[in-house]
Amino acid sequence: MNELNNIVKKIIGKGKGILAADESTGTMTKRLESVGVTSTSKNRLLFRETLFSSDAMKNYIGGVILYDETIKQSSLSKKKIPELIFNTGAIPGIKVDTGAKILANSSEEKITEGLDGLRDRLLEYYKLGARFTKWRAVYIISENYPSKLSIYSNAHALARYAALVQECGMVPIIEPEVLMDGNHGAEECFNKTSEVIKKCYDELLKHKVDLKGTILKPNMILPGSESKKNITTKKVAELTLKCLKISVPTEVPGITFLSGGQSEIDATKNLNSINLINDTNFVMTYSYGRALQQSALKFWSRDIKNIEGTQKIFNHRAKMCSLASQGNWSESLEKN
Ligand code: 13P
Repeated sequence: MNELNNIVKKIIGKGKGILAADESTGTMTKRLESVGVTSTSKNRLLFRETLFSSDAMKNYIGGVILYDETIKQSSLSKKKIPELIFNTGAIPGIKVDTGAKILANSSEEKITEGLDGLRDRLLEYYKLGARFTKWRAVYIISENYPSKLSIYSNAHALARYAALVQECGMVPIIEPEVLMDGNHGAEECFNKTSEVIKKCYDELLKHKVDLKGTILKPNMILPGSESKKNITTKKVAELTLKCLKISVPTEVPGITFLSGGQSEIDATKNLNSINLINDTNFVMTYSYGRALQQSALKFWSRDIKNIEGTQKIFNHRAKMCSLASQGNWSESLEKN
C-alpha cells in the first residue's frame, strides 16, 4: 500500500497538480464546437497533445486524467499518449466511470455508473500505463437535494470503485462534486458538501479502502452560480477549509480541487487563498479541467497549427495554479 502513497506523492508533489483532460467525447465536442472547431478524433488529440507536450508538464503537472479514447491514442511522434505523459515526469490517469445517469425514482438526481465489468477495464488501463483513476459523482443543491438516497448511493458506488482500483494497484481519485448551479448561498453549499463528503468516508472505510492511497477531489465552498450574493475569496477559503477539516479523515494525503465552472482567475485566486490559511497536513492543489484549458483552447481554435502559442498560454495558466497551490500567487503576476 506504500506503493499507492508514493504515487499520490508524485502526483501532488510541491507546486504540482492535475490536468483533468478526461472530458468525454460528448463534452469535448461541446467545448470544441463552442470555439468553432469540428470535433474529430484527430482534432481532440491534437489539442490534448499540444498540452501534453508543453513545458508546463515538467514543472507544474503531476498527473493527467485521460479519457478512454485518448489513453489508446498515439502522438504525432508515434509515442503512445501514456508514454508521452510519463516521459514528462507526470503520471497518466484515467476516468473510469461511465457517466452520471438519472437515479431511479428521482426525476432530477443522478447516480454515477460504471461498476459492472470495472475490474477488467482497470486491468486493461493498468497495462496501458495508468496509475491513478477518477470517478465523479454529482449532486445538485435545492430545497430537497441532495437527497439522502443520492448521498448514500453515490458514496456506496465511490467506495466500491475505490476498493477495486486499489486492488488493481492504482490510486483512486474520489470526486464528489456538489454542483454550483442554483441560487443557494455559500452556507448551504458548506452544509451539503460536508454531509456528502462525510458519507463518502463512511463508505470508503466500510469497504476497507486505504485512505493514504487516495486523493479527494471536491468542489470549493461557493454560493450558487445564479445567486446574486457576493463572497470574498477569504470567505471562500475559510468555509472550504472548515468543511474539509470536519469531513475528511487526516490520513488522506491530498485534496485536489475541481474548478467547477469558476473562471480561470477565480479558481486560481481561491486556491491561493485556501493555501494562505491551510493549517492542516492536507496538500491542497488543483485538478482543473476548464480553469487550466479555457484560454489555451480559445487561442488554439483560431489557428490549430499554432502549437507554440497555445503552449505559451497553457504554461502561464499552469504556472499561476502552481503558485496558488503554494500560496504564492498574486493578481499582478497575471499580467506578466
Ligand atoms: P473542471 O475543473 O472543469 O470542473 O473539471 C474537473 C473535472 O475533472 C470534472 O470532473
